[in-house]
Amino acid sequence: MSAAVPVRGFTLFMTGLSGAGKSTLSQSLSHAIQEQYRRPVTILDGDIVREMLSSGLTFSRADRELNIRRIGYVAGEVTKHGGICICAAIAPFRSARAEVRARVSQYGGFYEIYVSTPLAVCESRDPKGLYKKARRGEIKGFTGVDDPFEAPEQPEIGIDTSKLSIDEAVRRILALVQRDGLV
Ligand code: ADX
Repeated sequence: MSAAVPVRGFTLFMTGLSGAGKSTLSQSLSHAIQEQYRRPVTILDGDIVREMLSSGLTFSRADRELNIRRIGYVAGEVTKHGGICICAAIAPFRSARAEVRARVSQYGGFYEIYVSTPLAVCESRDPKGLYKKARRGEIKGFTGVDDPFEAPEQPEIGIDTSKLSIDEAVRRILALVQRDGLV
């Protein structure tokens, strides 16, 4: 019996404002990876994580950090076992993102993808009508309106979905992973 070459895992960690295109990009990346490389992908999307893993958490700084720590823990486990994890959460705080990077990097590749679509564009899309509510004061502490978003200083890549097609964004991100020999 010949020993199988171990597969290295990696995490694509998307961070950016609500409406920036993180979920859409995650879905397209996942399809492309499964089609081109025949590898399974785990998606941890903020909206779903907040229903399942993080139900009951608020949008206070402490709870947002805890939410990201939980996402980072799962991403680390997936990566450790040679899997591919795509995370899509606002993750507005640098310190929480740095913690996830440190954890996941112990086990495999880590790519911070700054989905940098400008606030004005996210707000004009307003897919859930939440920016309107935040502007009316019906939601307090909404990221980009009256809560901070600390832009990544050294992301592996920045993607502005108002300037780039989703297909082109997927191509650029996968080119990085290919360069590093992880797919
Ligand atoms: S994070 O800050 O903890 O990373 P997460 O990505 O899980 O946020 O959830 C963001 C989603 O929650 C948004 O896309 C939006 O639909 C919803 N949401 C509800 N309240 C807020 C708020 N105060 N700030 C940002 N997003 C909110």
